[in-house]
Amino acid sequence: MVVPIHAPLERRTTNERRFESEIGRRKDSHIFNSLIIPLRMKVGFIGYGNMGSIMVRSLLCSGALDPENVMVSNRSATRMSSLKEHYPAVEQTTDNTVVARKSGLIFICVRSDQVDEVVREILPSLDPLAHVVLINGGVSMAEIQQNYGLKISKVIPSVTMEVGRGVTLICHGQVVEKGQKELLENMFGSVGPVKVIVEDCFDVGTYMTSCGPAFVAAFIEEFAEAAVRQGSFSRDEARAMVTETVLATAALMIERGKSSEEICHSVATRGGITEEGLKVLHRGLPSIFDEVVRVTLVKHEQS
Ligand SMILES: NC(=O)c1ccc[n+]([C@@H]2O[C@H](COP(=O)([O-])OP(=O)(O)OC[C@H]3O[C@@H](n4cnc5c(N)ncnc54)[C@H](OP(=O)(O)O)[C@@H]3O)[C@@H](O)[C@H]2O)c1
Repeated sequence: MVVPIHAPLERRTTNERRFESEIGRRKDSHIFNSLIIPLRMKVGFIGYGNMGSIMVRSLLCSGALDPENVMVSNRSATRMSSLKEHYPAVEQTTDNTVVARKSGLIFICVRSDQVDEVVREILPSLDPLAHVVLINGGVSMAEIQQNYGLKISKVIPSVTMEVGRGVTLICHGQVVEKGQKELLENMFGSVGPVKVIVEDCFDVGTYMTSCGPAFVAAFIEEFAEAAVRQGSFSRDEARAMVTETVLATAALMIERGKSSEEICHSVATRGGITEEGLKVLHRGLPSIFDEVVRVTLVKHEQS
């Protein structure tokens, strides 16, 4: 079953509960013992929309953050109501300057076109040593750093962090301190692999890890729909079969280290049915993915 992206905490699905109990087990491991947010340090999140809420909930669930350390502000208070219910110790406000004044690490989780306004609003309240993190692919970190003189990093999370998986991309500005870099990387390392990259690689990286879940979901849908059109299976049956096949194939690659060539070779016997299907995919997919990456890069440049 796929976990809905916006599932409020009170409607947590089996998968989410499984994630929380898995994360609970991992809390006891050595990884979590090294995750020390300085006791009195506040971690602030400005913007509690789709991505802000996924990040806050996932980092709280993983144990990377303690509710007492977390502050959240959002333009409209209603958006934060389920958070209050499940994490009453998380401090909430609609005043961004309160978060800016109290936090040593601040995530700006608003849309790209809202970032500049928020930065200008909070600037007078920020501690000069505070570490500010952007999550927008289309906003230039270097530009914000130059314009406002901030210690700034960029994090591109994936919606898949909600189930404790997926790659988080991180890039640090020049003046960010070593300890701040480590803290950020360790926090996100608690909910999946972290890849530290340079800002110039964000566009192609985002295409794979942040846009990726949507592309994979669309692929699953079309894979299943083609089977539905043949009339033997219902849509739900086909989706479930294809989704499990994708998950199992990824597990073979990740857990057994098999390459895609090895998997294709072991399934596609010479002259068999898989070989015919693969010929069609190899003819069509390269140009489709070239076009997908091309349009995402163009859009990235325009935003
Ligand atoms: N979706 C992804 O997979 C993904 C992955 C990585 C990065 N991102 C990036 O994340 C960014 C945010 O996307 P999203 O989907 O989370 O957008 P969203 O759902 O629209 O969330 C934006 C939130 O910011 C709040 N907000 C706007 N202006 C504010 C202000 N001045 N002060 C305080 N709060 C304010 C909004 O409050 P209201 O409730 O009042 O509207 C809303 O809750 C995008 O730029 C996107 O590129 C997305």
